[in-house]
Amino acid sequence: MKPAHKLLFVVCPMLVLGFIYYSSGKLHLHVWGQKPHKDVESTVNVSKVTSVAVRATVTKEPVAEGAVSVGRIVGSVFDKQGFMLNLDTKLPLDLAYKYGNLSEGACKPGYAAAKMTAIYPKFSKPASMFLDRNFKRLAKVINYLPPFGFRTQERIIDVILSATKNYGLGPELDSLICKRCIIVGNGGILSNKSLGSRIDEYDVVVRLNEAPVSGYTRDVGSKTTMRITYPEGAIQKPERYEKDSLFVFSAFKPLDFKWLRQMVYKEKLQGTEGFWKSVARYVPREPSEIRILNPYFIQEAAFQFIGLPQNNGLMGKGNIPTLGTVAITMALHNCDEVAVAGFGYDMNTPHAPLHYYESVKMSAIKESWTHNISKEKEFLRKLVKANIITDLTNGI
Ligand SMILES: *[C@@H]1O[C@H](CO)[C@@H](O)[C@H](O)[C@H]1NC(C)=O
Ligand SMILES: *[C@@H]1O[C@H](CO)[C@@H](O)[C@H](O)[C@H]1NC(C)=O
Ligand SMILES: *[C@@H]1O[C@H](CO)[C@@H](O)[C@H](O)[C@H]1NC(C)=O
Repeated sequence: MKPAHKLLFVVCPMLVLGFIYYSSGKLHLHVWGQKPHKDVESTVNVSKVTSVAVRATVTKEPVAEGAVSVGRIVGSVFDKQGFMLNLDTKLPLDLAYKYGNLSEGACKPGYAAAKMTAIYPKFSKPASMFLDRNFKRLAKVINYLPPFGFRTQERIIDVILSATKNYGLGPELDSLICKRCIIVGNGGILSNKSLGSRIDEYDVVVRLNEAPVSGYTRDVGSKTTMRITYPEGAIQKPERYEKDSLFVFSAFKPLDFKWLRQMVYKEKLQGTEGFWKSVARYVPREPSEIRILNPYFIQEAAFQFIGLPQNNGLMGKGNIPTLGTVAITMALHNCDEVAVAGFGYDMNTPHAPLHYYESVKMSAIKESWTHNISKEKEFLRKLVKANIITDLTNGI
């Protein structure tokens, strides 16, 4: 029997199940955002229907906002956060079928989000990377103060966006049918692994704060699609900014937006009290190269994925995710495949360097007031275990 036929045997009962579910009027059709490939024409119909049917049996009703966990409803299948307890690394059947005919190593459209939904049914893919002029329609963030939303900052954001006038990755990357992204963390674990050329192969290379490229390209690569930064983390020496990369701003407090406005409009920086360390006074970037990261990723990472204290939606002790996890969250919504490198601390090697670009030792890591590194790691472990993200340096 041909594999396709075998598959149909498995799939038929599911079709029936799916149809029953469908008839019961409960099915929410998920738009996966990909056109079927031309070269699977003969099976396109089957594959479309299967994916609907299988999804119908997998996808739960969206959980109302504020509901704490799915776990309570369906017993022991899900953990407190709503992730499946059994993090199967195998592809769900519908995905195996969908990607079955792709050549080895080809980029799999929709992979990260589909796999995420398989272990975390509450996941809903649409969430734009950056704020655009319609940002006030983003229902999930409009009522939260920074860093979980932008309430009270609407006017200043309008002023900033009217100058940047660009809200995507640029025509070339925006039009890719399948995007592979890598988030390069700043961990010392990147040192001496010669991963630079592998990192540069990704369509989108995300770097964080001031982590340098120059002088470290053999290990960290030379390509930077975007650098996600908050004011205290921004590169301070103008000559150290790399060309052709987007300056992506992530706000953690209201004051940060004011700083960004001054950077965008090239004004003299005023009012630096309120930052916890010195900040860049000049960002050598055109307004068209500046973006504002959608704060939804901070909110979702904190409250849904990691399960940090809600604190009435306000910043509080140990409820801010690290920028690296925020970037991964962004990629789950906006990239087809997601990889990371330079994440994770190995506490068994206290003398190993904390960052790849400075000699501060691991043992210098302090108990953080803002982050909860161990809880955050639990979440990242789930992503690695379920093969949703690939960890090139195996630190997670
Ligand atoms: C799978 O790919 C092969 C080679 O590209 C092609 O000949 C074949 O028709 C494809 N099969 C299906 C089911 O699309
Ligand atoms: C990397 O290699 C250099 C040169 O061999 C060495 O001095 C350095 O200690 C190594 N760093 C790590 C983290 O192993
Ligand atoms: C991190 O979370 C754990 C478990 O919820 C908690 O016991 C611990 O106090 C938290 N740490 C910080 C720094 O908030």
